Amino acid sequence: MYNFDKVAKFQNSLKWHVNDSELPMTLGDMDFEVAPEIITELHKRIENKNFGYEYIPYEYYVSVAKWYKEMHNCTLDISWMSFSQGVVATLSAIITNLMNEDSVITVLTPGFDKFKKVGEEKQKVLVSELIYDKEKRNYDINWLDLEDKLKKTNLFVLCNPHSPVGKIWSQKDLEKILKLSLKYDFKIFSDEIHGEITFDKKYTPLFSLDEKLLKNTIIAVSPSKAFNIAGIQTATIITPNKELKEQVDNAIKSFHLNEANSLAVPATIAAYTEGKDWLEELKDYLRENRNFIERFLEHNVPDVKPSLNEASYFLWLDISSLNVDAQELTEFIRKKTGLILIAGDKFDGNGKQFLRMNIATSTDLIEDALRRLQRAIVLFKRKDDDLMNLILNK
Ligand SMILES: Cc1ncc(COP(=O)(O)O)c(C=O)c1O
Repeated sequence: MYNFDKVAKFQNSLKWHVNDSELPMTLGDMDFEVAPEIITELHKRIENKNFGYEYIPYEYYVSVAKWYKEMHNCTLDISWMSFSQGVVATLSAIITNLMNEDSVITVLTPGFDKFKKVGEEKQKVLVSELIYDKEKRNYDINWLDLEDKLKKTNLFVLCNPHSPVGKIWSQKDLEKILKLSLKYDFKIFSDEIHGEITFDKKYTPLFSLDEKLLKNTIIAVSPSKAFNIAGIQTATIITPNKELKEQVDNAIKSFHLNEANSLAVPATIAAYTEGKDWLEELKDYLRENRNFIERFLEHNVPDVKPSLNEASYFLWLDISSLNVDAQELTEFIRKKTGLILIAGDKFDGNGKQFLRMNIATSTDLIEDALRRLQRAIVLFKRKDDDLMNLILNK
């Protein structure tokens, strides 16, 4: 039994860099203590008392391959893997090294904002907006629009599962994208950082599909989200095509991302070899949080409706019935109650009708957040009514 009720705040936490009375449910890290199995290995490394330059041992890659065999029942060839310090930094290095000024990048929205941001630094970015089914609270790809854009694309940035909406792409969807990449000859960068936190549906790692379809793919995985070690900076980049892997490795090296800090290797190996039980308990805890939030909102704040959320510890909350932009509402909620949520505007697409809530915290804080949210929505609606009365009485 692990203790997820304890909130482990740390010095210089970016998320908790707020006023004392404020409650941030924002950035993509968790409030939980890291698995003791990982901490033990980190203590051992620190006890070496020498933090010189490191190479990446073979054992690192074996631990990644074994994890995917055991947890996802797929074979991952060790020769396909490269170490890198992070997913976004690797994407940036790949764009700089593999694209040129005429290249076109395509992303799906609403989607993780940094894809577009990194792409727009030098290239043209096309956006294909996901279709939202309000009844089913589910997103899908607009295939006609996407294919039209992919015809002109050099790099498609995929997020599998898709953040922040928590959508797990089906094998059929993924195969369709891979076939399009062969047809129109564009590369795919697939960010699979949220693949370990899934609930009722299984995620399909892109590299587990038919190798013949993987000629243009670069896949990024990392234990950083699932094991709360984002600050340790570790990721594995998987490139099945040998020629493309050489280019990817050169890109990673050009940004010096192949150099691991002293904690990255022991943390990754410990997560992948000893982290399974902790992760299973974490997912149970997150599932409880999610169910609790859904019940609470349904009964007390029906204007805020959770959507899909098949994966990740973000809840994507539909506020469309309130007729307000998410940015305005988050500012109101923060000002009135101190609860800080992320406005979906940041992720484009139909994001301005959504709030992103990070639920990877203690159930006590979830309860606190829900009470604040309930109060804020009551106040917000009252404000609306007051305004209406003012207009009607004029
Ligand atoms: C979809 C997605 N990709 C990447 C990252 C960041 O990964 P890294 O720290 O390895 O760049 C995040 C962090 O929130 C994320 O949500």
